[in-house]
Amino acid sequence: MTVPSSLENLRVQYEALPYPPRDPREEQVRLITGTPSHILEINHYLFAGRLNLNRPFRALIAGGGTGDACIMLAQQLVDRRCPAEVVYLDLSSASRKVCEARAKARGLRNINFITGSLLDLPAMNIGTFDYIDCTGVLHHLPDPTAGMQALASVLEPEGGIGVMLYGQYGRTGVYPLQEMLRTLAPPSMAIEDRIAMAKRLIRFLPTTNLFRRNPYLNDHVTGGDAGLYDLLLHSCDRAYTVPEIGKLAGDAGLRVVAFLEPVRYEPSTYMSDPVIARQASSLPLLERAAFAERLAGNLRTHVFYATRAGYDTVARPEDTQAIPVLREMDPHKLAAGLQPGQPLIANLDGFPWRAQLPPLAPRIISLIDGRRSVAELYTALGAQGGLPQWEDFYAQFEDLYVKLNGVNHLLLRFRT
Ligand SMILES: C[S@@+](CC[C@H](N)C(=O)[O-])C[C@H]1O[C@@H](n2cnc3c(N)ncnc32)[C@H](O)[C@@H]1O
Repeated sequence: MTVPSSLENLRVQYEALPYPPRDPREEQVRLITGTPSHILEINHYLFAGRLNLNRPFRALIAGGGTGDACIMLAQQLVDRRCPAEVVYLDLSSASRKVCEARAKARGLRNINFITGSLLDLPAMNIGTFDYIDCTGVLHHLPDPTAGMQALASVLEPEGGIGVMLYGQYGRTGVYPLQEMLRTLAPPSMAIEDRIAMAKRLIRFLPTTNLFRRNPYLNDHVTGGDAGLYDLLLHSCDRAYTVPEIGKLAGDAGLRVVAFLEPVRYEPSTYMSDPVIARQASSLPLLERAAFAERLAGNLRTHVFYATRAGYDTVARPEDTQAIPVLREMDPHKLAAGLQPGQPLIANLDGFPWRAQLPPLAPRIISLIDGRRSVAELYTALGAQGGLPQWEDFYAQFEDLYVKLNGVNHLLLRFRT
């Protein structure tokens, strides 16, 4: 394979340090699930909850790395007996080997592996895709717009894409450190020496340094040498604001339909002044999300779904045939953990988020089984006795939905 020199730097890095590091033996004990590209999210945000998994489905994992999204989605499609094909594409054959070993450990046979550049997709003749994952890749390309356009060129007209890009404000402190390391440990040095120099610099940073003052940049601690290299020594790396993401998608003929987790992109999450919260919350999606990221200041990454479909692709709870599905959670355990009057609490990278749940929350949650629709939840509640008025039930369900969906615990699907 021949690749242009700027991509050659990327390839060399990921041949030496496949990212993230993964041990295929761990497939025996756990499935790594995440976002984007969880099948429940794809269905909810890109297919309005109406994706028919009895029909053939094609997914592309572009820059699949060591395989987290590829393995998760391929496994979820097998579990649902979907006649699907997942195509894995990456520049790095070392990364591909890790993903292949993980697929083998699980007995997954629905993945086709390709070593190559996503920039070559328009000429690859590998068909079109209902869904494309591109996580942590485009921000490393010399021309991310060309990358997004290459992805869009193989997307089905009604298909969608799930992307993760670095967030500018939350990475405060990273780029000055990268600049210093370009001086101290230029790319001409051996990888091990560059990593050693980065560790040395971090150890001796002054207390005023922006990187040292940003406690949420913990990849260098948790990600080992590959994580440290990815964070501080990358050959090509940029970060995005929400408006820049809107433009990147728009330049490829796509439209952003959701940011995840939704609660992080709502100004009211961070603003207790009701006048400001109300004004900011009435903005359209992209402006609202841009306001929220400026207000929060801690978004290190942006996960978003985009489509070129000209209609609403997001499932909505207003249709009472919608089936709420809790993701990777036991409804009974969740319901039992909710103390009456106590708020739901989440730590949003240092921001303490609290949401007061409606009184019916524990009863409704314990009935969510991924099969009952909203209307059927109401009937099941009645069978327990003490049935509230429909209007009261629905108002409480909607309130619960907004909060649990906000932290990505609750999604919707429809019978197909
Ligand atoms: C930071 S890793 C992310 C891996 C994976 N998507 C994940 O989130 O776990 C970036 C990956 O993109 C791959 N990559 C970078 N540029 C690429 C390109 N032009 N075409 C295909 N893969 C590329 C790298 O080889 C590397 O495996």
